[in-house]
Amino acid sequence: MPHNYCPSPLEICMLFVTSEMHPFIKTGGLADVSSALPAALQRMGVEVKVLLPAYRQVKTKLPHARPICTLPDMRGEEKVVIRETFIEETGVTVLLVDYPAYYDRPGGPYQDEHGQDWHDNLMRFALLSKCAALLAGHASPLDWHPSLVHCNDWQTGLTPAYLHFWEHRHIKSVMTIHNLAYQGIFPSWGVTDVGLPESAYGLHGVEYYGNFSLLKAGLNYADHITTVSPTYAQEIQTDELGFGMQGLLQHRQLQLTGIVNGIDVRDWCPANDHNIPAPFSLHNLPDKALNKAALQRRMGLEVRDEVLLIGAISRLAHQKGLDVLLQVLPRLLEQPVQLALLGSGEQALEQGYRHLAAQYPGKVAAHIGFDESLSHLIEAGADVFAMPSRFEPCGLNQMYSMRYGTPPIVNATGGLADTVVDAQPDTIANGLATGFVFAPLNEDTLHSALLRALSLRQDKTSWEQLQRNGMNRDFSWDKSAAQYVRLYQDLLRT
Ligand code: ADP
Ligand code: GLC
Repeated sequence: MPHNYCPSPLEICMLFVTSEMHPFIKTGGLADVSSALPAALQRMGVEVKVLLPAYRQVKTKLPHARPICTLPDMRGEEKVVIRETFIEETGVTVLLVDYPAYYDRPGGPYQDEHGQDWHDNLMRFALLSKCAALLAGHASPLDWHPSLVHCNDWQTGLTPAYLHFWEHRHIKSVMTIHNLAYQGIFPSWGVTDVGLPESAYGLHGVEYYGNFSLLKAGLNYADHITTVSPTYAQEIQTDELGFGMQGLLQHRQLQLTGIVNGIDVRDWCPANDHNIPAPFSLHNLPDKALNKAALQRRMGLEVRDEVLLIGAISRLAHQKGLDVLLQVLPRLLEQPVQLALLGSGEQALEQGYRHLAAQYPGKVAAHIGFDESLSHLIEAGADVFAMPSRFEPCGLNQMYSMRYGTPPIVNATGGLADTVVDAQPDTIANGLATGFVFAPLNEDTLHSALLRALSLRQDKTSWEQLQRNGMNRDFSWDKSAAQYVRLYQDLLRT
């Protein structure tokens, strides 16, 4: 190969390793990204195979995945079956790590039905990472050899470490941080259990304050680190949002890039969404009101168009700041306002919202659970969407909202700061404003942002302009996928 050779996208083969992928298994945005980014890369000519555990739900949805090889399990016994299936709609091939003892169980990918972490998560995700390293490595049983491995979050963090310790030839890897708050922390004795040498346990290895961190393994041994927005790439280098990794991330800042997520514009298309009763676009925006009425009926809210209907769809976790919204609501509900919330997670928050809904029947509705179809109806039917996150690596719902003519109300952090433009007279007039941005997060700032929305909605012309601005923005993956391709090219340049 000539010196300084840069491969074209058509020459790049990539193994994309992830613990979630829509529509097969999803707890959050990682699933959406793991389906839409590989599809976008594939459209650009990159050949992508996605490696995913064969959880029970995944096996049910992909019953025809055929076995293509076996790999050793964590004890070295040749008992892991790798299955392959081709997804027609996206052109992406999915490889499943079929190992029933780890993945074929009821409950979620990380936790049982009672919200407890699976006791064997270390081994479950070490196996996923190990399979990725073996499929990319010199002894792969496949005749498909990826030029690089793209890992996502702590569940895949051991892959770069395995490649580092097991391979003589350097196999390039990228580690994407979707959320630094989740680090895959396990007791230090796990290091040798997962097949790493003792020498890996150190400040410049996988050691993290006396424990073993799978994410740190990825951050140390990957060739490049990305995260899901430019602002978050800066924030994670600070004491405030670095979750103890800020030193390492500062040290690697030249190999750290923030690339904002896109969204799947086919899945989230108000003009062609089978989950909503009245599809709409810029050409028939008033039809959005039909979805509002449908949402109000479905959630048991009073069917009234003049109230400001606030939507929220979220994991109920501290990160999302919905405890602050809960505090603000009694004050806000003195105004003509309603809330439609869909979410699940921390018990105190679930209870808090259930309680509020009982106190304000017809004004507050809380659906506790996970419901894909209702999430589309909320995006379509709500007037505004609340995302008061304490931190948000990227966030997808604010983009879904803008696409559905539902201006988001967001704290200026991470990807929210990078994707939403605050409504001010000048930004509305020049076509830039898409929502309401406030900072810092507290009850007063959130309250006044909500009041600002309530008041601007009285001005029909400005409101419609705000909606149109968001609907006109291009949130497709094309631009961001092109940035990933350039990054892969730089890494593979000889
Ligand atoms: P995070 O990944 O931190 O949860 P994102 O905004 O990136 O946040 O993505 C969350 C994704 O999960 C969105 O697609 C959102 O619609 C979806 N989601 C979250 N909670 C629920 C729920 N209870 N029901 C349906 N979809 C949900
Ligand atoms: C994480 C983040 C979220 C991001 C998603 C996909 O779960 O919390 O902000 O959008 O990953 O990258």
